[in-house]
Amino acid sequence: MSELVRFGVSLEKALLDRFDVLIREKQYTNRSEALRDLIRRELVQKEWQGGSDVAGAITLIYDHHKRDILRMVTDTQHEFQQVIISTQHIHLDHHNCLEIVAARGKAGEVRKLADALRSIKGVRHATLSMSSTGREIE
Ligand code: NI
Repeated sequence: MSELVRFGVSLEKALLDRFDVLIREKQYTNRSEALRDLIRRELVQKEWQGGSDVAGAITLIYDHHKRDILRMVTDTQHEFQQVIISTQHIHLDHHNCLEIVAARGKAGEVRKLADALRSIKGVRHATLSMSSTGREIE
């Protein structure tokens, strides 16, 4: 853990009032915690834009009855096995499967994996949760 530094921030009262409303809505305990989170969010965004090592999760919804879909989802995951840490498959109901793919690697590769999975015919919904390895946001 690095050293804690205090610093003063000047900003318009109206803006600070809005920030305080936001802090309450998001259930932060104080301004420092909220500000830390905002800064980290920006830094994580920069990690993804700059092609750093990142971590994230891809969530897929698909109907496993659709022709070839299981093979295509599996083939794609084998193709990207270097960035996939783990995969969890949940049978939501008779038709729908939820698959969560945890990934870690270069931002571009993780994004490519998400795009490849999303574009498979029969995948109904896919999201990429862009997070961090945690190393650059201590
Ligand atoms: Ni299933």
